[in-house]
This record gives sequence, C-alpha cells and structure tokens, in this order.
Amino acid sequence: MNSIFTRRSVREYEKRPVETEKLERILRAGMQAPSAMNRQPWEVVVITDPDKIAEVAAITPYGGPAARAPMVLVPVCNKEFAGEKNRYWEQDLSSLVQNILLQIVEEGLGGCWMGIYPDENRTQQLADAIGAPENIIPFAMISVGYPLQENKFVDRYHPERVHYGKY
Ligand SMILES: Cc1cc2nc3c(=O)[nH]c(=O)nc-3n(C[C@H](O)[C@H](O)[C@H](O)COP(=O)(O)O)c2cc1C
Repeated sequence: MNSIFTRRSVREYEKRPVETEKLERILRAGMQAPSAMNRQPWEVVVITDPDKIAEVAAITPYGGPAARAPMVLVPVCNKEFAGEKNRYWEQDLSSLVQNILLQIVEEGLGGCWMGIYPDENRTQQLADAIGAPENIIPFAMISVGYPLQENKFVDRYHPERVHYGKY
C-alpha cells in the first residue's frame, strides 16, 4: 500500500532529530506540487530550535503535535511569487503540504498538519514568531519526527459519494 493510504496524522515522536537528507527530500517533494499558473508561491521555514518550537506550538490550542516534535515546518506564501491577483495560493500551499506529508511517510517519519491560516490571530502571531516580512503569509505548521505511534489504515472510500455525469 502506498503512502497515500498509509499516511495518518502522527502526534507523538521520538526525540531523535530528522536527518538533513530526509528533510531535503521532503522539501523537494513539497515543491514538486502543482500550483496555479505554475507560480510555486511557497517558501518553507524549518524550525528545530526547541525554544522556537515551543513558541510556535503555543500559537494554536491544537499545536500539541508541534510541541512534541523535533522539527516543525512552516509553509508560507510569498505574495511576490504568487502575484497580486492570485486567488489560488491557498490551494497551491495545500498541495505543497500534502506532498510534504506523503514524503514524510516515505522517509519512515510521521507528521501532522496544523491549521494556521485563515485565522487572523494565529497567522499574525506565527508571522511575528518566524520574523516574516509583510509579503509573507504563514499558512500552516507541519510537525515532523520519528513516530511513536503506529499508522493504521482507515478506509474512507464512500462509493455513494461518487456521481457519474451529474450529481
Ligand atoms: C487544514 C487542516 C488543519 C488541521 N489542524 C490540525 C491541528 O491543528 N492539530 C492537529 O492535531 N491536527 C490537525 N489536523 C489533522 C486532522 O485532524 C487529521 O488529518 C484528520 O483527523 C484525519 O486524520 P489522519 O490525518 O490521521 O488521516 C489538521 C488537518 C488539516 C487538513
């Protein structure tokens, strides 16, 4: 079964750090994602400093996975890359995040997506925490580490939700 089907949110991690080669493949996979007009409006902030991880994890009440992880990735939108009238950047960033989550599984690691944008407070607090200038919008947080939990497959296929030809 490939990583699309084995991926589950992992929220507990070993202390050991994520190897640089694995991180690079994860980031490469992320940036291989499709984006509207191929704008690739993303950048990623990599956080491994425990104090900074604690700071960003506290920005959301659901940031526990980040607090327990040895590494947190913050995908951001660079508005200059996106272009002024780009209405698709959130979808672009989502496709980057999903690619990252799948490559995390391929590397034998676990990860969890934590929502930040479009909550205004969380987005602003995260921008401040990572020192982001005006043109940078933090989109989410992704915790990464060696899993302390087992990933179990859950079948979510609902054939009755598929409509052929018309709804
Ligand atoms: C936009 C988005 C925001 C999420 N935010 C959080 C979060 O803040 N904290 C958390 O622990 N999980 C978060 N999740 C993970 C979901 O809870 C999880 O994907 C869902 O329960 C399905 O479980 P699975 O990932 O194990 O398949 C988020 C997922 C998405 C897509």
